[in-house]
Amino acid sequence: MVSDMDPALNPFKPGSGLRPPALEGRDAERREFDLLVTRSKLRNYDRGMMLSGLRGVGKTTLLNNLAEHAENRGWLTIGIEARPNEAGVAAVRAKLGNELAAGLRRFSRRHKLQKTLDGLVELARGFTLGVGVGPAKVELTLGRQAATGDLDLDLEELVEAISEVMKKRASAFGLFIDEMQDLDADLLGALLAVQHRASQREWPFFVIGAGLPSLPAVLAGTRSYAERQFAYSTVGPLSPTDAADALRIPVERHGGEFTSGALEILVEASGGYPYFLQEFGKAIWAVAPETPFTGEDALLAVEEGRRALDDGFFPSRWNRATERERRYLRAIAATGEVAPRSGTVAAAMGLTTTAVSDVRDSAIKKGLVWSPEHGRIGFTVPGMDDFIRRQPTD
Ligand SMILES: Nc1ncnc2c1ncn2[C@@H]1O[C@H](COP(=O)(O)OP(=O)(O)O)[C@@H](O)[C@H]1O
Ligand SMILES: [Mg+2]
Repeated sequence: MVSDMDPALNPFKPGSGLRPPALEGRDAERREFDLLVTRSKLRNYDRGMMLSGLRGVGKTTLLNNLAEHAENRGWLTIGIEARPNEAGVAAVRAKLGNELAAGLRRFSRRHKLQKTLDGLVELARGFTLGVGVGPAKVELTLGRQAATGDLDLDLEELVEAISEVMKKRASAFGLFIDEMQDLDADLLGALLAVQHRASQREWPFFVIGAGLPSLPAVLAGTRSYAERQFAYSTVGPLSPTDAADALRIPVERHGGEFTSGALEILVEASGGYPYFLQEFGKAIWAVAPETPFTGEDALLAVEEGRRALDDGFFPSRWNRATERERRYLRAIAATGEVAPRSGTVAAAMGLTTTAVSDVRDSAIKKGLVWSPEHGRIGFTVPGMDDFIRRQPTD
């Protein structure tokens, strides 16, 4: 029995991309990715990966884990996060160029190869600057490296040059992109085209992406071959066993325990949803005076955890919605269904499906709702419907 649950030692971490105390239930994806890395060492190249799923399900965490693994096994890795309405291709391109230059320097240090990569760092810097010239496409010369200002060409040149070096070392270049559905369309198109060429020419270059459930459709809509270009996997809630492990293992590491009843209550209330598991785990550590954590502690923790969600997680979504979007979200919540027909929601608002299509699209773009199947609409986080029903109408 451990008493005095020191708040400073609380291992649970609700948040975005925060490394969980136990990363459970992602073995299949991690094994698949490890195989890609192992094959790259044999110069037997496979496809990159796309992870999609709802918010808070653990995509960023998994993506970071894969990137770290690749880096430990000698890949050159860089990560970027796309944002909606980013100040145009310029910003994303600059970020990509800067990250690349930094990634290359990190790689040089780690593998003690200063000289070999200096040229590549220059090239990456040239890529960053190439954007400044915009549509004028003036040649910008940096030493022997030139950026043409043409995104597709510059990106291809850069990837080819890096791939050449990586291939010699039986290594690979992994580009990890989070929130990939928000990537600027020009850059996305260019990346898919370069990835396509890389596979054909056996360059060790792999895009590993994560994003909302709309990601596969965004990719397919950008390049028709995108469907065959990647191994797609859906990141979902954890199974009850994995969810229980995600709570139990960190507590046991501190010498504590759960009664099986307590675990069952928390797993059930979380729906296996990773963000909620962290929130409830954090809460039980905070409210229970000692372990083993009991069923009574668990009930208190669920109450406390829900209060925390109501103070942060849900409002951060609700507050992003416009007045019209809120009316639409309320109508969805009012149906009491998980994924009502779009027509039913529109009818409840006294409107036609066409009349609500723009508000539906903008709510989807913001990641507030998604279409789990054709003609249906649902919230991107579990419990959002209950939260909305609790909001006073104004
Ligand atoms: N496999 C997992 N097991 C336990 N907790 C997890 C797991 N994956 C993510 N988490 C936790 O869930 C929360 C949300 O993860 P995050 O990666 O930000 O989700 P997403 O990117 O899908 O919105 C974080 O607090 C993280 O620590
Ligand atoms: Mg994320």
